[in-house]
Amino acid sequence: MSNEDTRSITMSEVMTPEKANFAGNIHGGHLLSLLDRVAYACAARYSKHYVVTLSVDNVLFKQPIHVGELVTCHARVNYVGHSSMEVGIKVIAENLTTGEQRHTNSCFFTMVAMDDKHKPAKIAPLSLDDDQSKRRFAEAQLRRELRKQMDREHAKRKQNYNE
Ligand SMILES: CC(C)(COP(=O)(O)OP(=O)(O)OC[C@H]1O[C@@H](n2cnc3c(N)ncnc32)[C@H](O)[C@@H]1OP(=O)(O)O)[C@@H](O)C(=O)NCCC(=O)NCCS
Repeated sequence: MSNEDTRSITMSEVMTPEKANFAGNIHGGHLLSLLDRVAYACAARYSKHYVVTLSVDNVLFKQPIHVGELVTCHARVNYVGHSSMEVGIKVIAENLTTGEQRHTNSCFFTMVAMDDKHKPAKIAPLSLDDDQSKRRFAEAQLRRELRKQMDREHAKRKQNYNE
């Protein structure tokens, strides 16, 4: 399998009635669970390790998903550090009778590869062979920096309140 094949994955699921909320649309919790499984499959296949979810960013439910639609998640490893990976997921909902497709949301999962002792494991670097991969990598790096900066800021403020 080439590097391009192992860095991306596509998973689809038909939205059946038991996944609906009180309003009759698909429950946000169901979509989150699906996204987590997609991120797991994408990161585990790329790293060839068991992986855990460290964080989920930018989960924005821009449009409701309806019962009967086919939800397809296009996932891709955007960034690889030492043990962590950012997986970007684009969600498309398709009306199977009309063929209409809607981009309902995109989000970013940070996954960490674990070794047999349950410690973060070193994984293969990502080859950046085209401009799109380089752009995705740089954007993921920026998100990672901003997330760490926000964590530091929260920790500082918490400390100030406790003083
Ligand atoms: C994921 C986990 C093993 C990381 O532990 P840790 O002590 O922070 O380990 P490290 O410091 O080695 O960090 C591991 C990687 O995560 C990254 N990381 C840690 N905190 C981060 C943060 N706030 N933002 C972005 N990246 C972060 C580190 O930079 C490192 O990446 P790198 O190896 O690519 O440089 C630990 O946080 C954990 O077990 N979390 C629970 C996971 C879980 O149960 N998920 C399911 C939740 S329902």
